Amino acid sequence: MAIIDPKYSIGIPEMDAQHARWIQLIAEFRAACESELLKQACIDGAAHALEELLKYTRSHFASEERFITEHKYPYLEAHKKKHQELEAQVVNLQKEIQAHKTGTTPLKLNLFVTIWLMEHIMQEDEKYARFILGKPSL
Ligand SMILES: [Fe+2]
Ligand SMILES: [Fe+2]
Repeated sequence: MAIIDPKYSIGIPEMDAQHARWIQLIAEFRAACESELLKQACIDGAAHALEELLKYTRSHFASEERFITEHKYPYLEAHKKKHQELEAQVVNLQKEIQAHKTGTTPLKLNLFVTIWLMEHIMQEDEKYARFILGKPSL
């Protein structure tokens, strides 16, 4: 099991473990981008890394939504909406890569998406963690 960087820990071991894996996949995608996207012919690595990231993003979001539903988090719907927005951003990124693979558009990868994913943990996930752990909100 991957160990979470304390900076990203929300204090709930089950979710921290999923976030650690998620962060690892984000890092792998970013690393693939750096090395692969300079060469047009080598985009498959980045596309594959993003596919894995999208799959895990979907499974993490579903698992987290179940978790906060069980704990009666009052802002469940707003949190779900943030998840949907983030997932849509990752899907857009995937479309950009696919378009590049087929040579229809020049590639411009929005790596900000990966930063928003990390920020989501520290801002939005931290909020439900504080609610569940009975800590004062930020
Ligand atoms: Fe999360
Ligand atoms: Fe979340």
